Amino acid sequence: MKILFATNNAHKIAEVSSMLGNGFSLITPREAGVTEEIPETQPTIEGNALQKARYVHERTGLDCFADDTGLEVAALGGAPGVRSARYATEGHDFDANLRLLLHNMEGVTDRRARFRTVIALIWRGEEYTFEGIVEGEITRTPSGAGGFGYDPVFVPEGASCTFAEMTAAEKNAISHRGRAVAALVRFLHEQCGIR
Ligand code: IMP
Repeated sequence: MKILFATNNAHKIAEVSSMLGNGFSLITPREAGVTEEIPETQPTIEGNALQKARYVHERTGLDCFADDTGLEVAALGGAPGVRSARYATEGHDFDANLRLLLHNMEGVTDRRARFRTVIALIWRGEEYTFEGIVEGEITRTPSGAGGFGYDPVFVPEGASCTFAEMTAAEKNAISHRGRAVAALVRFLHEQCGIR
């Protein structure tokens, strides 16, 4: 079964591919002839995931899915949220984003935050969405060298270290993206009669 994942991030492709198992082969937008940047201009995480999935579906006609993630900080009214990648600058600068977040949270005692991933799937012409959330807290200083993005300042609920201090397997087992992908995989396996 061929399914298109609307990302050019090789790491995400490998991660999702291993969870889907043998019955599925993931193809990238580039492999399906979509070489331009896929637009994500919507004001919500759900909106962006759907926009990306629709964009590649309209151009290829293939079953496809797309993901979008944001860090939602309670004391900042849900920011950076949909703007997580471009919080400090338009340039997807992880360090600058992290510094701005800590700056905006100086003196803030409510440190509650969550990562939220939405996956939008277009399957046999119908649209579906799957959500994965991990609750946690923002630390006062970064720690750990693993992961990416806001990982060095995010401690998931029930853990005593940041995502950046965990192995990839430990993080994936509880992460927002891991949970959303697991829901997608359950759906596709059910649809295809895979146990
Ligand atoms: P994307 O939608 O997966 O590209 O994620 C958007 C932005 O959210 C990224 O550029 C990161 O800043 C942040 N982000 C997404 N997932 C993670 C994660 O697992 N750890 C830390 N930051 C993340």
